[in-house]
Amino acid sequence: MVDHANDEEGPSFVIGNIPKGRNMWGRDSEIDNLLKTIINDNVLLTACRRFGKTSIMTKMNENPRHDFICFMFDVESRKSPQDFVVTIFEKIRDDGKIVTFLNKANKITKEFIDRVEKLKISVVGLDLRENKALDWRDMANDLINFLSEYEGKLLFLIDELPQFILNIAKHHSKDMAYDFLNWFREVRQSSRLSNIRWLVGGSIGVEHALTKVGAKIHMINDLSIIVLKPFSNKVGKEYVEALLKKEGNFTAIPSSIVDKILSTIGSPVPYFLQILIKESLNAMNDADETILTDEIIEEAYHKYVLGPASKTYFQHYYDRLSGYYDKDEEKITKRILVETARKGTILKAELFNLYKMIETADVSDTRFNDIMANIENDFYVIYDYKNDSYRFLTNVLKDWWLRYHNIIEE
Ligand SMILES: Nc1ncnc2c1ncn2[C@@H]1O[C@H](COP(=O)(O)OP(=O)(O)OP(=O)(O)O)[C@@H](O)[C@H]1O
Ligand SMILES: [Mg+2]
Repeated sequence: MVDHANDEEGPSFVIGNIPKGRNMWGRDSEIDNLLKTIINDNVLLTACRRFGKTSIMTKMNENPRHDFICFMFDVESRKSPQDFVVTIFEKIRDDGKIVTFLNKANKITKEFIDRVEKLKISVVGLDLRENKALDWRDMANDLINFLSEYEGKLLFLIDELPQFILNIAKHHSKDMAYDFLNWFREVRQSSRLSNIRWLVGGSIGVEHALTKVGAKIHMINDLSIIVLKPFSNKVGKEYVEALLKKEGNFTAIPSSIVDKILSTIGSPVPYFLQILIKESLNAMNDADETILTDEIIEEAYHKYVLGPASKTYFQHYYDRLSGYYDKDEEKITKRILVETARKGTILKAELFNLYKMIETADVSDTRFNDIMANIENDFYVIYDYKNDSYRFLTNVLKDWWLRYHNIIEE
């Protein structure tokens, strides 16, 4: 038994919302690591869906450190570079941090104010979002130049950039998406702009977004890639105990129940831990019980975690196989994923044998290794070097696959 009777008030459920204050569990070491990297580099923060990227970026934005002034924006629904520029501009204008700071330090010159005003008028007055005639690069460069005059450090946290790239290509053209990537790279690399750092986040593989718009990986190879993992086992365990105590009003929690929750979810992802605990507690109350059991937890997992909670989030993982891979590759990949989901853990040699059976072109080690590298980079599976084997990155995605896509296409 773990006795928590004297713990301070713990975290509540924040399913689907951005956790704040005591609801934002852990992640301090991840944030420290990000900040350490950001001092010298721009960063691409990437992870499987629902792992907590936006939560971390939000915490960094709301608790700036190392003298950074932070601006965060989500570009998932933005569709053009113009929109991007307007968004940066509006963030800065609305926030006023920079203007206030410069005022205090007597840094604002008349020329400076004129430029800001000019920008404001051109953005608001001409409605940049619609104005195709305006070259967005001029506007963007004006804005960035203005920022370079600021003496402090600025950190832009941009969520869902890969999706934004795809949006530009879809709503305008691949060329425009390419131009934006080019401009963004120049800005990141300009020594004049060394006071500006970029932390870019994304749930979909950035490599695929680049390929889709005809760009190469060198367009982003200056970014330092940080892959966000689930909680460590220790942090996951503490989180489960704290949630059960707070939300279940338990004073003592059997460690077997904590272990059952953790082993059901597999990798400790806070989103899925919360859903499982919430639904297990609901089921316990509905049954007029006062303790959780393995059966209640299992039922809640199959009914709720694999149901609505994951359906929409993971559909993308299935759909993108047809969007990103060629027909043959898609078929081989789906077969490999079904087999891995069915077996739980599978030796690489077994998967290679399977690949040889289903390959319609010449069998190639390189092609097999490329496919395995792609599905690892895209957060489907992880490789265990000790046993030379693969398994799904999360139990939830594995079980979701088995529930919705346990089909072998001939
Ligand atoms: N550190 C945390 N503490 C508590 N809950 C968290 C934490 N991080 C994430 N969560 C939970 O997980 C959910 C998803 O988090 P978040 O939106 O940050 O993930 P994401 O990786 O940005 O997801 P997506 O790929 O869908 O954009 C949140 O609504 C919250 O319930
Ligand atoms: Mg997010």
